[in-house]
Amino acid sequence: MANFNLKINGQSHQVDVDEDTPLLWVLRDHLGLVGTKYSCGIAQCGACTVHLNGEATFSCTLPVSSVGTDEVTTIEGLSKDGTHPVQKAWDEVDVAQCGYCQAGQLMTAAAFLKKNPKPSIEEIENAMNRNLCRCGTYHKIREAVALAAKTK
Ligand code: FES
Ligand code: FES
Repeated sequence: MANFNLKINGQSHQVDVDEDTPLLWVLRDHLGLVGTKYSCGIAQCGACTVHLNGEATFSCTLPVSSVGTDEVTTIEGLSKDGTHPVQKAWDEVDVAQCGYCQAGQLMTAAAFLKKNPKPSIEEIENAMNRNLCRCGTYHKIREAVALAAKTK
């Protein structure tokens, strides 16, 4: 076990865990930030996506020891009140079905639009294609990302 001081959603958190513990387990099991979801656990689905210094990153395969001083943002920290442009667009388009993949989708979309504020549909598809949705909400996700790009 080792002590790690993590910066998450603008706050410092101390955790005492094995150094190879995935960040996802630290978030969910040690800090109670359960908005980030576990699905495949092998970096194949995107359900566990968080931001690491603003980059969309899979947290299920990221050892906590490699986070260092990087700023982690989870879905809980995307906005205080659900008013981030992607969250508003998601509501407007009514994207979610079961909802399980959606936090990861939102985090990927938010990081993407920060880098590419005026994307083409093809760029949106490419950016979002590592996030899987078993409910098949892909067309609505594309629509919501395009709407967020227009309205923010
Ligand atoms: S749970 Fe991390 S990519 Fe699937
Ligand atoms: S909304 Fe159900 S898995 Fe995506």
